[in-house]
Order: sequence, then structure tokens, then C-alpha cells
Amino acid sequence: MTVPTTDADVAQQAASARRTRYAVCGLSNRGLSLFVGPLLGLGKAGGESGGDAGSGADMSRYGELVAIVDIDPARVARFNELTGAGVPSYLPDDFDRMVDETAPEVVLVTSPDYTHADYVTAALARDLDVITEKPMAASCAQVQAILEAERRSRGSVRVAHNLRYTPRTRQLKRMMLDGLVGRVTSVDLTWSVDTFHGSSYFHRWNRRRAWSGGLSIHKACHHFDMVTWLLDDTPEQVFAYGALNFYGPESPHNPANRDGAADADRGDGAEPSARAQRQQCPYHLRWLADGEVPDDDHLKPRSGLHGLPYDVQYPPGEQNWIYDPEIDIEDTYSAVVRYRRGASLSYSVTFSGAWEGYRLAINGTHGRIEACSVDFRDGRGETAESAEILYYPMFGPRQRHDVVTGRGSHGGADPLIRRDLLLGPSQESRDLRIMADSRQGAVAVAMGEAVWRSVADNRPYSIDELLGDVRSP
Ligand SMILES: NC(=O)c1ccc[n+]([C@@H]2O[C@H](COP(=O)([O-])OP(=O)(O)OC[C@H]3O[C@@H](n4cnc5c(N)ncnc54)[C@H](O)[C@@H]3O)[C@@H](O)[C@H]2O)c1
Repeated sequence: MTVPTTDADVAQQAASARRTRYAVCGLSNRGLSLFVGPLLGLGKAGGESGGDAGSGADMSRYGELVAIVDIDPARVARFNELTGAGVPSYLPDDFDRMVDETAPEVVLVTSPDYTHADYVTAALARDLDVITEKPMAASCAQVQAILEAERRSRGSVRVAHNLRYTPRTRQLKRMMLDGLVGRVTSVDLTWSVDTFHGSSYFHRWNRRRAWSGGLSIHKACHHFDMVTWLLDDTPEQVFAYGALNFYGPESPHNPANRDGAADADRGDGAEPSARAQRQQCPYHLRWLADGEVPDDDHLKPRSGLHGLPYDVQYPPGEQNWIYDPEIDIEDTYSAVVRYRRGASLSYSVTFSGAWEGYRLAINGTHGRIEACSVDFRDGRGETAESAEILYYPMFGPRQRHDVVTGRGSHGGADPLIRRDLLLGPSQESRDLRIMADSRQGAVAVAMGEAVWRSVADNRPYSIDELLGDVRSP
């Protein structure tokens, strides 16, 4: 695909009315809202979970969805029935047949993380371009397979690292490009994923390392990618501690661990006493303050955008809950990262936090920048301090920069990244060098893998050790 190089090129391409042909792998919530809904012009049909189809985005003039690949044909059939879209449906093993029959130009990979590498490499083997959701893959072994396939292919890979696109992150990048802090010496980043969002990972597919790489890859790849991009540097070594503190059978909140509680059974066949016990789970009781328990609650069967069934991924009668023994990932990390030019990153994350968001400080030889996004899920929204970025020159008065607000999901990031990915980068995006390529996607995965491996082995990991010599940027 020819990527336009100026805004005029973008406008010309848009006006040329030749629509790019896309195939999507994984009819996920994210895929529906970021690409499928907009490409089909469904606009208002979607919700806000992981995307902004509900904002009325319509990309149907520029692109055509020619195929959906998913393990769950009933889910795709129901989608086609509900929307009248009639998009041809294929199973994963039929990827090559899908390419032969529908001739996509670009493959959109929006399936669970551990499946990305199979689709990316299969698309590259057919010389197709790929846009994949983050993380680029669930492990460094998969990342290496992608990089090797890209070397052999005429196609290329872009990774949808949408955290780069929020207005706040873009402002921070401009301040860094303006050299306000001088040479970066250290970064403090504290991330809090609140009890609503954080607990949801533990009853979805994300709770297995083999599926998501664990949250140090699945979720923290956003955070590591943001810091690496802001610093325009290369991480070299990672050391971390971490644990499963809030979820899994040993959780202090697991009603089964209360004195006198019987073991909780799994699934709909749970004994009445176990069912009653589950109702006492504090992560469930939280919702009652709002009056209604939504489908996101871990005591309910999983459903997603449009109410589409997920029967292959979440078989009926096998209700996951956040205290299941098969959870094999951590929910808490503290990590230190050394960057090549001498900066260090001090990072911590919890997945059972009081608020959603982060606090960031970037220290340099000539100043310090502070930014935060602290959001309480009680209608109050972001705190007042989140509306500004503070800049402290080393020897001057503090300066306040108002954070520009954006429209659309993920703080306004998704409409912008979708435009860049489907139409080519805007002038501002090119100036900020904002689009993530495969090397940058690889580094974010490697940082996450270094974290969980460091926790497991109690030793530092170098990025080269996990990835070979991948330099970013
Ligand atoms: N950038 C963001 O802000 C953001 C937000 C949410 C999710 N994501 C990413 O989007 C992707 C999808 O996540 P989600 O939570 O929306 O997924 P989901 O659980 O809503 O849906 C997964 C879909 O993939 C299908 N599937 C499972 N295995 C498959 C396979 N082997 N081949 C094809 N399809 C398969 C399932 O049937 C289902 O339709 C993940 O990579 C995730 O990391 C990104």
C-alpha cells in the first residue's frame, strides 16, 4: 500500500474513491469498534468498549471489509445477521483460501494476543501489509518470527499503539522534541488500573500467560512504548518484582477464603452455597452501588459489543471468575529499566487500584515535566490536576500547560490512530513520528517479557538477550 506523505496526498487518496480492501482477523470488541464498524459505516451501532464506533466514525468511503477470520463462525454469522453486512467468514486454517478468494490488500489483526504472530506472518508470506493491535505478539519468540517474516516480505507491519495518540501524550512528545528537559536522566511512571477495569482481565482470556503474555506485556506494553517513544531512546536492561496479590484462589477478597466458607464450585453447576458465597465477592458488590450489575461483572456470562455470542472463547456453562486457579499471571509489578543514553525508568503498576490512570514525571539535565491522568469512576471523571502538564525549568519558574481535550474513545486517541492507519499519517503525526513499526512493537513486547521473566528468575534481563539486536527507533 502506498502511504501518502503529505496532507494533500491524503486528501487526494481519499477523493480518488478507490477503496482499500481489508480482511480482519478476530471479530473482537476492539476490532469491531476500531475498524469493522467504521469500515462498514455502522457508525452509531457500536459501543465504547475499547473503541469508538459509537462516535459515528464512517470510513466506508475509503475502505472495504472483504473478509472476517474468526474461530467462532456463529459469532460472525450473528454479526452479519444483526448488521446485514454479509461479510464472508473464514476459520483460522482457511487464511490462505481467504486471501485467494477475497484478495485483501491489508490484514487487520484484532484477535487475542497469542494469535497475532500467526496472522501477521501468514499475511507477510502473501506480501500483504499488516496492521496489528498491540501487543504485536505475546512473546519474544513470536516477535522474532514476525521480524523475520517481514524481512522476507514486500509487506510491512504497523502496530496500533494508541496511547501515543492521546492529546496529553502528543503534547508531552512535542515538549520532549522541543528539548525542554535537556538530556533525560530519569522517569517515574506509576500506573493504576482500577478495580473495575483491572479485575476484568482476570475473567477474560487475558488471565493466561500463554494467551496474553501476562499484563506486563498485554497492558504494560502501552506504558513502555509511551516512555520509549517520548524518550526516543532504546531500553537495554530490566529488573522487576511482581506478584499476584488481588486475584486467583489466594486472594484476600476471595469469599471462599473466609472462615467457614466451603470451596466454591465452578460454572453454572455451582452448589447453592457456593453461588451464595460468590454473591459476597467485593468486586461484584461494588457494582451494586450503581444499582445495576452490568455484563462486565465476573459472575455473569461474558458478552461483548452488540451482545454477540462468544461461545467458542467462553463456552456456555463454564463461567470464569476472578479467583480461578488457572490464573497464571501477576497483578502487581515494580520495575526499573535502563535506557541506552543513560536514563532510568522507575515503573509500578497495580491492577486493583482506587483510580484509573497514571502519574508521570520526566527529569532531565535542564528541567522536569509532570503529567497525570487520574480518573475516578464515580461520575467525577478526571481530577483537576489532570487538566494540565507542569514544566519546571531547572532554574526558572514553573509553567503550566493546559491539556487539550480530544473527542472519541481512549481520550480521543482512537479516531486519530484509525485515520492514520487507514488513510496515512497526518502532517502532525509525521512530525511526531507517531506511527509504531514492527521494531517498536517488538521492543514494547520485550520490555514486558523482561519484566515477567525477571520476576520469575529474580535477575535482570537485557532486551538484546530476549530479542537479539533490535534497535528502536
Ligand atoms: N489498543 C487498545 O486500546 C486495545 C483495547 C482492547 C483490546 N486491544 C487488543 O485488541 C485485541 C482484541 O482484544 P479484545 O479484548 O477486544 O478481544 P475479544 O475477547 O473481545 O474478542 C476476541 C475475538 O477473537 C476471536 N478469536 C479467538 N481466537 C481466535 C483465533 N485464533 N483466530 C481468530 N479469531 C480468534 C474470538 O472468537 C473473538 O471474536 C487484543 O490484541 C487486545 O490486546 C487493544
